[in-house]
Amino acid sequence: MNQNKKYCLITGASCGIGKAIAEECAKQNMNLFLVALPDSGLEEIAVELANKNQVDVRCFSINLTQTDAPKQVYDFAKSNNLIIDKLVNNAGVGSYGKMEKQSPQEIDDIIMLNIRATTLLTYYFLNDLKKLPKAHILNISSFAAFIPFPKKSIYAATKSYLLFFSRALNTELKGTNVTVTSVHPNGVGTNSRIKETLKQASMIAKITSLEADKVAQYSVEGMIKGKKLIVPGRATKFFYILGSIIPYGLVVKIVGWAFRKV
Ligand SMILES: NC(=O)c1ccc[n+]([C@@H]2O[C@H](COP(=O)([O-])OP(=O)(O)OC[C@H]3O[C@@H](n4cnc5c(N)ncnc54)[C@H](OP(=O)(O)O)[C@@H]3O)[C@@H](O)[C@H]2O)c1
Repeated sequence: MNQNKKYCLITGASCGIGKAIAEECAKQNMNLFLVALPDSGLEEIAVELANKNQVDVRCFSINLTQTDAPKQVYDFAKSNNLIIDKLVNNAGVGSYGKMEKQSPQEIDDIIMLNIRATTLLTYYFLNDLKKLPKAHILNISSFAAFIPFPKKSIYAATKSYLLFFSRALNTELKGTNVTVTSVHPNGVGTNSRIKETLKQASMIAKITSLEADKVAQYSVEGMIKGKKLIVPGRATKFFYILGSIIPYGLVVKIVGWAFRKV
């Protein structure tokens, strides 16, 4: 039934930026393969998107921090003959506070999801992506990737990993049909914790924040164009450029100051 149908795989598609990307892709007539945690309402979202946009939407619920989860996602796609031509590694978690205050479990979850799941999903799907006439990988990183981020040290470091992983992979894939894009939004009020953080943060954090649907639009558009790096929004872009010309130590101080009340 799915023969020759291509699908865009999106992790963390049950809410926030992942859901907004799913909506944007469905609007552009892409079939979807959505992945999120169990009991996240993914099936309802799939039915709604399929009915509204006349696209085929499949879903698979799994905790991507489990060791064998990336392989299970790949096996599900293969056994259901889903041809994935776009891989969107969106699922990610973060926490706020000093590193020493976090539990080993929290630290493990951030690294397993943000780094390991993204890397292994890319690894398993890459060979198949290379066989298609055109294919894309979109990694949702963060503005935090550009700066050592006090009180978000682990999260920011995982997002730097995604930045460097994406850029290096892009070079490895030069001359192939596969492009790799990394996206670097600043604050997006997707859940109550982030909304609360944004309320307490400085003007800089506030003026660079964007709605999830805007981030999704920039991301999908950039992915299709094969852009290497996307910094969505004018204000965020301004601070990205500013950050690349002022001394590094000063950047770290400004970031610490911007989030001092959080
Ligand atoms: N929001 C921001 O300010 C911001 C800024 C820059 C970058 N980002 C990045 O953008 C991405 C999405 O962020 P968001 O704010 O949209 O997040 P969110 O609203 O918290 O949604 C995260 C999504 O990932 C899923 N997820 C979480 N843990 C998972 C796991 N272990 N296995 C499988 N799925 C899991 C969630 O499923 P459930 O619904 O079941 O929990 C949900 O679908 C993340 O990579 C984040 O780092 C966010």
